[in-house]
Amino acid sequence: MTFEPYAARTHEKMKEVLMHPQSPGPAIHYYMIRGGTKKRNVTVWESGTVGGEYIKTYGHYHVGELDETYWILQGEGVILQQKMVVENGEVQPDKIEEFKAIPVKAGDSVYMPPNYGHLAVNTAPEWFVTADDSPVEGSGDNASMPGHADYELVKHMHGFAYYVVEKNGVPTLVPNKLYKEVRKKDFGGMPVEE
Ligand SMILES: [Fe+2]
Repeated sequence: MTFEPYAARTHEKMKEVLMHPQSPGPAIHYYMIRGGTKKRNVTVWESGTVGGEYIKTYGHYHVGELDETYWILQGEGVILQQKMVVENGEVQPDKIEEFKAIPVKAGDSVYMPPNYGHLAVNTAPEWFVTADDSPVEGSGDNASMPGHADYELVKHMHGFAYYVVEKNGVPTLVPNKLYKEVRKKDFGGMPVEE
């Protein structure tokens, strides 16, 4: 089977990780063109909110010790990173060792270290556009759900430890109550509703 580089993330799929899955949203939340490590992957986020939550990517952890870099090409947003607690050699999806919110704008780049799950949120009225260098290429791989990424752990928790929500026009972090603990927190100067 030949590799099809284009994929779109639908509202139906995003319901698995939204703060308010029953709220209406755009048919497509974001568009992906996968060029892999050599050509780079380009992602375009729709603007706006769904049930108050800004449009975001699904979020995933990498399989293995894989890192990647995101370059912000247009717009403004927030990158969320979180690392799970490991107990007796097993990752704990509902316990977070470290959570980071990183506000970004066009021209910035963000390093995603190995073992840190990540997603990105569009907080501006225009499209948010990034390039990244994760390895998605070759036959057998999938542009929508690439083999190097684990989406199940995020699905299980209905999203990351915090949602990015519009409160009086200001992007605000709202905790996801399904998480039992978040040990180390860096909110990047963003307001938090506890
Ligand atoms: Fe990734």
